[in-house]
Amino acid sequence: MQKTSASILFDNKAIVPKEFNKIAEKYDFATRMSQGYQDDLNRSGSLLTLKGDETVIDLCCGTGKSTVSFLSRITSGKVFCVDNSEGMLAVAQDKFSKEIAAGKVEISLQDAMHLNFAPESVDAIFMAYGLRNMPDYDLCIENLFRILKPGGQLVIHDYSLANSWYAKPLWFVLSYGFIVPFCTLISGSATIYTYLAKSVLNFLNPDQLKELLLSKGFTGISIVQHASWRRLFFHSFHAIKK
Ligand SMILES: C[S@@+](CC[C@H](N)C(=O)[O-])C[C@H]1O[C@@H](n2cnc3c(N)ncnc32)[C@H](O)[C@@H]1O
Repeated sequence: MQKTSASILFDNKAIVPKEFNKIAEKYDFATRMSQGYQDDLNRSGSLLTLKGDETVIDLCCGTGKSTVSFLSRITSGKVFCVDNSEGMLAVAQDKFSKEIAAGKVEISLQDAMHLNFAPESVDAIFMAYGLRNMPDYDLCIENLFRILKPGGQLVIHDYSLANSWYAKPLWFVLSYGFIVPFCTLISGSATIYTYLAKSVLNFLNPDQLKELLLSKGFTGISIVQHASWRRLFFHSFHAIKK
């Protein structure tokens, strides 16, 4: 049987950022249509305990919507907006032109699986809708642990289906019945949204993700649910490197 383009993407996640290039110009508009998108990111951004002088990576920052959730709390520190999609970063670059000129934000094209940061050099990492796109979750978390300073924080925000019998069937109906057709109409590309539906069905649930973080040495893990119907589908995780 011939594979669909979404299945090809799922089997080779390293090319996911190239697919995001195709929808980069429409991404902010499409997410504005998604109820609570920025509110949920802001809730996760607020989990970061910040004094203002920290070095923070927004990993898989896309167009910078996740960066906005904590950027104003960085005063003398620095935020690295890291993504491997040139198109998504071009939108972020426009959005943060003032902060880039002031040296507060640096845009960086990098693969999240092969980060170019020194060991123990970073105070905090925010990763929104990123981990699910990694070809190897274990290796990714190990790498993040390595570049965080002792005491550093990791916040992960992603689709992670609640541990109840109806979360998966509901996601199936919502994603294939509404998200895929609607977002395809807005963005003109079905591949990335069909991939989204599939990758969520196959991602870790909150208990599994907590277990993964513990197994890589993180401590003090808290899990935050999001509002209304979204509590079934989205979770945020705050973890500390001891
Ligand atoms: C759904 S978007 C999330 C963007 C942003 N964090 C937000 O909350 O709106 C996922 C992003 O992950 C990026 N991405 C996927 N795989 C990546 C990888 N291996 N390395 C770097 N970025 C990656 C994509 O290019 C895309 O911009």
